[in-house]
Amino acid sequence: MTGKLIGVGLGPGDPELMTLKAHRLIASAAVVAYPALENGESFARSIAAKSIPADAHEITIRIPMTVERGPAQAAYDQGAADIAAQLEAGKDVVVLCEGDPFFYGSFMYLFSRLADQYETDIIPGVTSVTTCAAVAKRPLTARNDVLTIIPGPLETDEMRSRIEAAGAVAIMKVGRHLGRIRALLADMGLAASATYVARASLPSQQVLPLERASDPAPYFSMILITKGKDPWLS
Ligand SMILES: C[S@@+](CC[C@H](N)C(=O)[O-])C[C@H]1O[C@@H](n2cnc3c(N)ncnc32)[C@H](O)[C@@H]1O
Repeated sequence: MTGKLIGVGLGPGDPELMTLKAHRLIASAAVVAYPALENGESFARSIAAKSIPADAHEITIRIPMTVERGPAQAAYDQGAADIAAQLEAGKDVVVLCEGDPFFYGSFMYLFSRLADQYETDIIPGVTSVTTCAAVAKRPLTARNDVLTIIPGPLETDEMRSRIEAAGAVAIMKVGRHLGRIRALLADMGLAASATYVARASLPSQQVLPLERASDPAPYFSMILITKGKDPWLS
């Protein structure tokens, strides 16, 4: 019998936003795997730290932060191989995923390598988008509004047309793109209605009008925009 691959969503950072199911699975895990920076910490591990058993075998997947995709893909190849060795030995492997595993989650790179060979479960998690709306105290979308989620690296003209067509917008992966996005929103007359949220749910959380956000933004940041009159007020 081979083991089961379990992708577990951890929520946006505050361990209290982990689900009961996530906590139960992590607390009973014999093997835990997670992505980490090449020479640094694993944000996912830090969220789940208090739930991980002291004697769990840990697989750290070190992801190089390069623009080229090759080195990161090679790291996921190695991570998948390390996880597969445990699954072949009959052990379940719990993979820790910040937020929700299937919402822009790096778990997808392991899922695509392993799910056709091993039984797999996915445990959903609280997403960063819903958390940012909550901490900003800004309803995300209402009625028949179309919510559009945009990755910050998207090319400026395409970003403009996506925003034009949307009722409400969340821009993720802001980081070094903050200046360019802020200039675009100013040009579109939307800068004043944009809220910037960084590290939502963590002690270092920031919620600011976009105009006051410092450039560059941290990786864990987002911009929320509601176009027109707030729909939940009418
Ligand atoms: C690779 S995606 C991961 C999304 C995650 N799987 C989720 O369910 O929200 C990383 C992006 O999510 C957003 N993000 C994740 N956690 C966040 C947080 N605590 N505060 C603000 N933005 C966050 C940022 O835009 C970041 O660049």
